[in-house]
Amino acid sequence: MTTLRLPGLIDVHVHLREPGAEYKEDFESGSRAALAGGFTMVLAMPNTQPPLIDAASLKIAEDAASAKALCDYGFHLGASGSNVETAAALAQRVCGLKMYLDATYGPLLIQDLATLREHFARWPKDRPILCHAEERTLAAVLMVAHLERRSVHICHVSRKAEIELIRDAKMHGIDVTCEVTPHHLFIVQEDVPRFLSPGRSQVRPSLATRADQQALWDNMEFIDCIATDHAPHTLAEKDGNAPPPGFPGLETALALMLTRVHAGNIELDAVTARMVDNPRRIFGLPEQPETWIEVDPDATWTVRNEEVVSRCGWSPFAGSVLRGRVQSVTLRGECVYRGGQFFVKAGTGRNVAPAYR
Ligand code: NCD
Ligand code: ZN
Ligand code: ZN
Ligand code: ZN
Repeated sequence: MTTLRLPGLIDVHVHLREPGAEYKEDFESGSRAALAGGFTMVLAMPNTQPPLIDAASLKIAEDAASAKALCDYGFHLGASGSNVETAAALAQRVCGLKMYLDATYGPLLIQDLATLREHFARWPKDRPILCHAEERTLAAVLMVAHLERRSVHICHVSRKAEIELIRDAKMHGIDVTCEVTPHHLFIVQEDVPRFLSPGRSQVRPSLATRADQQALWDNMEFIDCIATDHAPHTLAEKDGNAPPPGFPGLETALALMLTRVHAGNIELDAVTARMVDNPRRIFGLPEQPETWIEVDPDATWTVRNEEVVSRCGWSPFAGSVLRGRVQSVTLRGECVYRGGQFFVKAGTGRNVAPAYR
């Protein structure tokens, strides 16, 4: 058996549900899921209850993470219609400003163009802005970023027209980076009836067509990051009357990508570039000394809801046979995970935002 040693993975887009929905996930359960999937650093989204839009709400999340997180972490602050100045003043305490420009789970949504421009003008030019921006909203965001002469990172790109717009914007010299989720690379809407109920298949952006998915693979050179958009909701919620959108993803992301490495569809270096190096560069994240993961690239395993570490207790990939599995995780010289067991105290994780380094 050959063992691969890789750097600890970085996920720039996770929802850990704390504060406000700890029954779905909290910093402890979410960071366990991260370690089990080979991630040693995760950046948490602000669509919590309360949403992270000011100093008081951010402090609640910082305190919870500092007490519970098992891996390193950072936050993205949420943009609202009334926090342009407040947000900018908090830029050093977070890893980015998240703007929701299309409706999705949670209370944050910016619909007017003037507010969008104000945030782009005011947020420090050297700190990241991330956008949930689909279809035509994406075109609006690229225009605003271009005019304000600043970078922008586009979350969970899922459609052919979107990745082609980003490709062409990059070629035009617009300072745009983007991420794609494993689920958009691996699941298409056409296949859903065969293995996912309609409720469980709900996710934003929606699962797309085979042509959209092919366009993502074909344009891999323009995709900067693979980010899970780990969005845990319970099975009771997913199977209920108003299924919330979102898939858990931390525990399956690397194995899915390694399965494609084994199939010869992508190089291992291209995977680690998108799961370690590019995330670190784009978000200005610190190196984690003496931190690595060991992976058995030939281990085949079946995803089972019963074995999911995340508190949500299910995976859209349940039943899939994947090739490649995380055996151990070493964080700052300490073995924190091996063979399904955790050897790490709650609160070991560090905040990676500039203010805390
Ligand atoms: C996310 C969630 O549940 O917080 N849901 C999702 O379907 N992706 C919100 C988001 O990332 O848009
Ligand atoms: Zn989103
Ligand atoms: Zn131009
Ligand atoms: Zn998300």
